[in-house]
Order: sequence, then structure tokens, then C-alpha cells
Amino acid sequence: MEKLILVNLKMYQTDMAQIENYLNKLKGKRLIFFPMIIHLERFISHNFTCGTQNISTHESGAYTGEISAKAAQNIGASCTLIGHSEVRQNFNETDEIINQKIKISLKNKLIPILCIGENLNQYQANQTKMVIKNQIEKALKDITEPVIISYEPLWAIGTGKTPTNEEIKDIIDYIKSLFNYKIKVLYGGSVSQDNIETLNKIENVDGFLIGKAGLDVSCLTKIIEVVQK
Ligand code: PGA
Repeated sequence: MEKLILVNLKMYQTDMAQIENYLNKLKGKRLIFFPMIIHLERFISHNFTCGTQNISTHESGAYTGEISAKAAQNIGASCTLIGHSEVRQNFNETDEIINQKIKISLKNKLIPILCIGENLNQYQANQTKMVIKNQIEKALKDITEPVIISYEPLWAIGTGKTPTNEEIKDIIDYIKSLFNYKIKVLYGGSVSQDNIETLNKIENVDGFLIGKAGLDVSCLTKIIEVVQK
């Protein structure tokens, strides 16, 4: 099965002409983009599979600044990130809110990509498995439909640091063991053109969630060449 390459563009791209150029250069590549919400339709019009970086716990109504799963699905989004560590931190998003977001995305036929991961203190205290088990149990309470999980240690996001392949494999095995169906588990956190050959050797990883390196067409092209060869 081909591994997935997800690109989380965060709030990086602010110039429409540069975005057009970026999209034209990547035409036809098998990528799943999470652009800024105001660029979503543009990415979809270039025939890319796309998702939102976050969604509201509500479907519609008086919720200024929020993103409706229903509206996103209506314009062609197929998935959504949920529980990204930047959202957890910046919006005080709790596991209970994440649970509601997963439910509303499933209801609206958006595949939820649940982001989980430990912080540096938890990693150093050898608490990773305990932390992610707790995150998964709370996020998926009363949910039986399949989701995708992205394992993203907080200390690896945007830092240039990554766990070793052995550590990532062990955590992915552990995550998969918590489910009674075949779940896809991705890795995210400082994936780049420099470490992709190494990370791609992890045998149980189903794909990668890429942030910063996804902004640069040549970095992304190298990543695609390695992962989808
Ligand atoms: P990064 O971001 O690749 O820039 O570390 C990954 C993410 O936040 O999903």
C-alpha cells in the first residue's frame, strides 16, 4: 500500500501568486494538503485531495471565526486534522473537545486525522505510551468508525529533532495494538528532505505529516521520490 504524504501548510503561505506557482509545480503529485482555510478551494480546484487544519465542534450557527465540517465537506474537503498540538496549545483544546470534533467530522464524512504525541518532559520521563493511550482513549470515546492517527511528538515539531526509527516503530506498533481494526498511523515532526530516507525505512509507518519542509517544492519533490518510489 502506498504511503500517504500529508502537507500541513499551517499559516505559512500568504501570497496568492506564490501559491499558484507552488500548485502548478506540484501538479499531479499524490499529496494531501491542509492549506489555510481561505486557500482551500484554490487547492481543490487544482485537483489535490485536501483537508482542513481544524474544525468547529458545531456544524453551523453563530460561531465567528470557526470552520464548519459540513461546509468544508460541501466544497470538496475529504479530511481534517484534529488535535494538532498547535491547536491544542493555542486554543486550549481539550481531549473532550477533540472527541466532539471527531464525531462531527465523521458525521459529515470528513476523515479525522487525530494528532497525538508527548511533550519533552513526558518523553524524558518515559511516559510516551501512557500519554498517547490516554489521548487516544479520550479522543475516541464512543467512536467506532475508523480514523487515521498521526504520531507527532511535540518536541519534534519544528525543531529539527526526531525520535530514532526504533522509537517511532515501537510507538506505532503500540498505537496499532490498541485497535481491533487495521488503523493507519503516520509520523510527523521535522520530516525533511534530509531525514526522509532514514524515516522511510520504518516498516510499520503508513505515511508522513509534513510541515515546514512541505513549503519548498524541491524538498517536497525529494520526499515524494523517496516515499512513493
Ligand atoms: P514540522 O511540522 O514538519 O514543521 O515539524 C509538522 C506538523 O506540525 O504537523
